[in-house]
Amino acid sequence: MPIDLAVVPVAGRGTRLLPLTKSQPKEMLPVGRRPVVQHVVEEMVRSGVRRILFITGAAKSAIENHFDIDAELISHLRESGKEDLLAELAFERENVDYYFTRQRRQLGLGHAVLCAAPMVGDDPFVVALGDTIIGLNDSSDVTRRMIDEFDRRGADAVIAFQEVAAEDVVHYGIAESEGKPGDVFRLKRIVEKPAIKEAPSRLAVAARYVFGPRIFETLRTTQAGKGGEIQLTDAIEQLIAAGRGVYGVRLAAGESRYDIGNYESYYRTFLEFALADPQYGGEVRAALKRMLD
Ligand code: UTP
Repeated sequence: MPIDLAVVPVAGRGTRLLPLTKSQPKEMLPVGRRPVVQHVVEEMVRSGVRRILFITGAAKSAIENHFDIDAELISHLRESGKEDLLAELAFERENVDYYFTRQRRQLGLGHAVLCAAPMVGDDPFVVALGDTIIGLNDSSDVTRRMIDEFDRRGADAVIAFQEVAAEDVVHYGIAESEGKPGDVFRLKRIVEKPAIKEAPSRLAVAARYVFGPRIFETLRTTQAGKGGEIQLTDAIEQLIAAGRGVYGVRLAAGESRYDIGNYESYYRTFLEFALADPQYGGEVRAALKRMLD
């Protein structure tokens, strides 16, 4: 059965981006011309997803509004002779159904995913973090590749990984592969935010997952881990320990992960997308050069 459902957790408080995120979702921050979460949704649609379930929370209603069809805005643009701008709203007409449920307490990513269980049932599904874009300007098909591997291998989980610098392993779930890891590899272990010396590799979880229903069974019994949160990584580690088929898919060269969850990476992400803007990229580059000279 083709996978057509993506769970997009967007309920986190985004405290590392305060005060920006006090009353607006970090997932709505602009990256180039689109809010982050629109990049994520468009990647899902390219991968064959037709149902999106947002795990949302307080102060996140802008996300629901963004994916509504705004008939009033459409007629305003028509009546004021701005028909050319209607193309900017084309995403509203994607062939997708949106669903929303609340994570009523922010108990961590694992808990956010578990909130999807009543709707997902026994269907396999994608999880795509709402604050992370993969690939510059719609260039990534990693979710499509992950879905293919999930089907081909009859897996319980497939996870995207990207190689990071040694000093960055402390921020991510890190993989230990069975044997030398190729583009696709079987996981022997996964460790949440290890110390540099304890990291089994530099392969870091990259914000995209495909799961079968066993992940819910596991999450139901997962205790709070690092940071007092229910960690998705801990549930994945339990799947591996139980001998389930858990595989990694590496991002290809040039298929970067843009996680906008802290200022340093948000600034870099915005800059890279602004430089790649087909209309204004050249001017931004020239202005930047002037600033740096
Ligand atoms: P993060 O851990 O980066 O988000 O989660 P956060 O908790 O908002 O960040 P800080 O540390 O306070 O700055 C990655 C993704 O998972 C979602 C977030 O919304 C984000 O898209 N998330 C995280 C949830 O939906 N619920 C949670 O309990 C935690």
